Amino acid sequence: MKRLILALATLKRRKRRAPNAFDCNVGSLCPSPGARPSGRFNLANSLTKRLILALATLKRRKRRAPNAFDCGGSVKLHPLLSVCRLLAALCFVAGGQLLAAAEMPVIRPGELWPDNRGQHVEAHGGGILKLADTYYWFGEDRSETNARGTRCVACYSSTNLAEWTFRNQVVHLTDPENLGRSWVLERPKVFYNAKTKKFVMYAHIDGLGQYRFASVAVFTCDTVDGQYQYLKSFRPLNHESRDIGQFVDDDGTAYLIFEDRPFGFRIAKLSDDYLTVEKEVCLIPKHMEGGALVHYQGLYYVIGSALTGWSPNPNQYATAKSLAGPWSEFKDIAPPDKNTYGSQSTMMLKVTGTKTTTVIFMGDIWKPSLQSDSRYLWMPLQIGDGKLWLPEPQPWSLDLKTGETIFKTP
Ligand code: GAL
Repeated sequence: MKRLILALATLKRRKRRAPNAFDCNVGSLCPSPGARPSGRFNLANSLTKRLILALATLKRRKRRAPNAFDCGGSVKLHPLLSVCRLLAALCFVAGGQLLAAAEMPVIRPGELWPDNRGQHVEAHGGGILKLADTYYWFGEDRSETNARGTRCVACYSSTNLAEWTFRNQVVHLTDPENLGRSWVLERPKVFYNAKTKKFVMYAHIDGLGQYRFASVAVFTCDTVDGQYQYLKSFRPLNHESRDIGQFVDDDGTAYLIFEDRPFGFRIAKLSDDYLTVEKEVCLIPKHMEGGALVHYQGLYYVIGSALTGWSPNPNQYATAKSLAGPWSEFKDIAPPDKNTYGSQSTMMLKVTGTKTTTVIFMGDIWKPSLQSDSRYLWMPLQIGDGKLWLPEPQPWSLDLKTGETIFKTP
């Protein structure tokens, strides 16, 4: 019994030390016992273990000395006390799990997103590559400190999608195609080619103004966060290409999504070595950019944004059974007057856990007057049966092991 009281006291003490405890909404999904082997979860798990140990000791003692709980051999333990003991145990386990949820790192849409150095993540218009258990986030690095005339791409890594470690500025390049001082390198996306063992980066390369160059730039690297070497630029399948998106299907096939201003937006398969765009799969005759694709429960969902530059607009989605179409009509992903809560799509990330699959909407909240301060809107989508909806942004956590999400009570 002493051990049980001790374990409860420890929990209380530790809980008091964590004032930012994350609330678990009633009816929302809390992590299952043993979920997430992170240090924070280990704390809850070790407390749970202590409780189980304490209870087991009590049980053992009872078995060894049936009268141990008699008071002077005259007063027997009241049955109500046993129920109390059981309730205390249940509360303790639930408390441990709540504590675990409380300790899960939080994703805060629209806020500054500090990396391991305490600096705002610079990975705008970005994409994610997953290798084993690690996620790599690549995006436009628009730091004020970048040398004039250079365009940069940064790479960060994370094992929980909330806390990011700066790895490297993997591209810092000066105008390789003589496009002028204001040339742009936007929306970098990295694919890993298992056959060639090369990391291949695509990005939109252009000259500022009319964006007439309308091409993709291709870079390669032998390591995920090394210096990517500029290889070439070209117009995919001889079409104009501005905003690009990346998509790797469940069978591993890699696709580039690109906006072709005169026609709409296209989905095209990369060559075996990923160094070129090989074959068009579909032209969606709708003038959209910020193309993002996901394959979820047998349906493809595509999101696109209207062509309003840095200003947000109501992003829309369509569905199809096959990438080649036919695609459904486009519908709003959020109330149209909210303009996608000030953001623009860049990617959808599917996280498949032991209990459920979460699809994350990744969007950029652009700040054209100070691009380094542009923010991110990452939110789990409500998705399924041909419907997709972006809920109102709020802080949330993801249990990568189970795939479940938890929203913070407002
Ligand atoms: C947006 C595009 C951004 C950037 C911007 C420039 O439409 O998505 O990546 O190119 O225009 O105005």
